[in-house]
Amino acid sequence: MKDKKLCYFLMVFIFFFCFSINNNSLAFTKKLNQQCLKCHKLKRAPKVLPNGEKMYLYVDSERFNKSAHGVLNCILCHQDIDPSNHPKPVKILSKKSYAKQVTQNCLGCHAESGLSSFHKNVIKENKVTCDECHTAHYIKTMEAIKEQTEACIKCHKLERLPKILPNGEKMYLRINPKEFAKSPHAEIGCFACHFDIYNSNKHPYPKPIKSKRAYAKEVVKNCVKCHTYSSLSKHRGHAAIIKSKKFICIDCHAYHKSNSLGR
Ligand code: HEC
Ligand code: HEC
Ligand code: HEC
Ligand code: HEC
Ligand code: HEC
Ligand code: HEC
Ligand code: HEC
Ligand code: HEC
Repeated sequence: MKDKKLCYFLMVFIFFFCFSINNNSLAFTKKLNQQCLKCHKLKRAPKVLPNGEKMYLYVDSERFNKSAHGVLNCILCHQDIDPSNHPKPVKILSKKSYAKQVTQNCLGCHAESGLSSFHKNVIKENKVTCDECHTAHYIKTMEAIKEQTEACIKCHKLERLPKILPNGEKMYLRINPKEFAKSPHAEIGCFACHFDIYNSNKHPYPKPIKSKRAYAKEVVKNCVKCHTYSSLSKHRGHAAIIKSKKFICIDCHAYHKSNSLGR
């Protein structure tokens, strides 16, 4: 942990040093980012990509400044942007291809070897990009995530009326903190499977959910982001079951509880 902190410190120091010969470094970063944000904090028509996707160019400057990278310069991630001739129309094939390209730069600062083990599977498979879980511009520190997890538990350990779904099903919202503490994901916290909630600043709001099964299917899509197919395929029976798509992960595995089989 100490080594990692030192490493970050050195990276940022070297960057600032290179640019700080005549400048106060932090003020310089702020100024450069302000130049970018002068345009990018405006909500305007999106860039339309060749496949029809809309790429919105808006960046919320307040949320960016508060993120783990608030002190970083935009172009440390955006090595694709040359401020001297930007904006010029650049051809971007799809949002996914662009995310793949830009997130290569994350690894320049966060070496793969320093990331927790499931990241290695994620990187090897090269399907899910970093921003799908962390976002691109509003990345939270581990400390902020931890605080948020405590808040999730504080609210969700309370007994309250269930959420009634359109088909009449009752969705009980209580989580037992003691049970959760024994689950394999306790250390990561609710962030492991519910990062969409951490990344939105709207929760709790009445999210429309059609049925419990539909919601379960939506959440289990996240399981295979970390437990990649190739990492699970080592067990042949298991792989065949997953491939058949007759069952979803939580038909067999617990998610808020301790025992690994059964809910
Ligand atoms: C931590 C790395 C990082 C930093 C710092 C960063 N970006 Fe990005 N940016 C990304 C990634 C990754 C994408 C593409 C994927 C995505 O949008 O989810 C992206 C995409 C974009 C896009 C295209 C629209 C979009 O959201 O896909 C714009 C515009 C943009 N960034 C502007 C900025 C500006 C302006 C700053 C500085 C205030 C900045 N970025 C700082 C990582 C970063
Ligand atoms: C004068 C306004 C303006 C400024 C200043 C500006 N941008 Fe942009 N930016 C744009 C426009 C317009 C586009 C869309 C270009 C297009 O349609 O192809 C864009 C597109 C982008 C994209 C999407 C990828 C691409 O190249 O189309 C990123 C990322 C981005 N800008 C980052 C930055 C960063 C980082 C800075 C600061 C160094 C910056 N911008 C400064 C107007 C600006
Ligand atoms: C499937 C979701 C997911 C994806 C994709 C993902 N991460 Fe993470 N990341 C997490 C979670 C959950 C944590 C916190 C728990 C942990 O590290 O075990 C985390 C933690 C981190 C940390 C903090 C680690 C530490 O201990 O200091 C960094 C840095 C990080 N991720 C970078 C990345 C980068 C770079 C990528 C892209 C190559 C990426 N992540 C892709 C979910 C993801
Ligand atoms: C120029 C170097 C640089 C780049 C590029 C960069 N980061 Fe970071 N990142 C940092 C620094 C510095 C911190 C702050 C570390 C701290 O506070 O301990 C940080 C913090 C983080 C954290 C929180 C870690 C913690 O322990 O709290 C995550 C997660 C993260 N970055 C993910 C990413 C992702 C994903 C990308 C690409 C989209 C990226 N970073 C690009 C330097 C970088
Ligand atoms: C291992 C993945 C995983 C983790 C970690 C996780 N959840 Fe869930 N959660 C799920 C899945 C899958 C569903 C959907 C299943 C369903 O609706 O029956 C779900 C559903 C929920 C629901 C809707 C009610 C229900 O039980 O169906 C709430 C509330 C909830 N989670 C809160 C939390 C909180 C709070 C935490 C952290 C203490 C957490 N979850 C951690 C996977 C997870
Ligand atoms: C202030 C209390 C509060 C906090 C904090 C809170 N929740 Fe909730 N949560 C709720 C309420 C209330 C609902 C039901 C919303 C509704 O009626 O539609 C809910 C619903 C949910 C659901 C069911 C799906 C949905 O969106 O309706 C999940 C999953 C969930 N919360 C997870 C979390 C996680 C993870 C966190 C922490 C990041 C968290 N909650 C923090 C109160 C809270
Ligand atoms: C953010 C990444 C992440 C997500 C998303 C995630 N897991 Fe995990 N899971 C882990 C980590 C890390 C461990 C503990 C280390 C290990 O043994 O791989 C783990 C452990 C497990 C274990 C116990 C493995 C053992 O060897 O005992 C099971 C079973 C499991 N996860 C199933 C699931 C299911 C089902 C989902 C979706 C509902 C899910 N996981 C979502 C990262 C994740
Ligand atoms: C039909 C039941 C069933 C389904 C569906 C299922 N599993 Fe499993 N899984 C098992 C059994 C049985 C084991 C082995 C017993 C054990 O080690 O606990 C296992 C083991 C695991 C392990 C630990 C060993 C390993 O291979 O790394 C993980 C992680 C895991 N499953 C994740 C998942 C995920 C993610 C899904 C959904 C994509 C899933 N499982 C779907 C029954 C199932």
